Amino acid sequence: MRTLLIVSLLATAGVVWAGELESLTDETRAEVKQILPKVAGMMKAAVDEQGVAAAIPVCKDKAPQLMADKAEALGWNIRRVSLRTRNPERATPDAWEAERLEAFDARAAAGEPPASIESAEIVTDAAGRRMFRYMKALPVAPVCVQCHGERERMAPELVQALARDYPHDSATGYAPGQIRGAVSVQRPL
Ligand code: HEC
Repeated sequence: MRTLLIVSLLATAGVVWAGELESLTDETRAEVKQILPKVAGMMKAAVDEQGVAAAIPVCKDKAPQLMADKAEALGWNIRRVSLRTRNPERATPDAWEAERLEAFDARAAAGEPPASIESAEIVTDAAGRRMFRYMKALPVAPVCVQCHGERERMAPELVQALARDYPHDSATGYAPGQIRGAVSVQRPL
């Protein structure tokens, strides 16, 4: 009798848990999806209208600013991370993020479409607080390789501009379809 009760309690808790994770994920994905097309659109327009070197501020300032504005409005933490960073001060992943980025690469290599690769989990942080964590892969689109592709194929003024600001740049050598990094969200629960 007691065993049955415990089993059914656990089952109920399990259902609630899965439901919570699912609704948090849906909600978070919807917010992230509002930012990404804006960044991609601004990037394409800037490259087309002003040339690649002049479009640097879109990835450098505008994309982080859009994420910071959204994060502030919602009380979340939102940033970009990558296993091969251009700006290591901003985008170096923590252990949870690095593990997922590695899994994202493996999933893409196994044939999963990069645009739909994501990961979500409810974790307890070092201070004992429950936290929802979410990551969505950022696939390399054709426009991205202009600044994140083979260095030998970039215009000299672009190579110069990148070298000036980013002496530790590891974010080159990507091809379309690969995963450039991810948007990483943390929400206190
Ligand atoms: C005009 C050049 C340019 C283009 C085109 C470009 N980026 Fe970037 N990207 C940069 C620069 C510069 C940074 C460094 C930003 C910083 O200082 O935080 C960067 C940083 C990033 C980062 C943060 C992680 C890191 O390496 O520091 C991600 C993720 C990223 N880019 C993804 C993309 C994606 C996806 C595309 C295509 C949609 C793209 N970029 C197109 C110049 C560019």
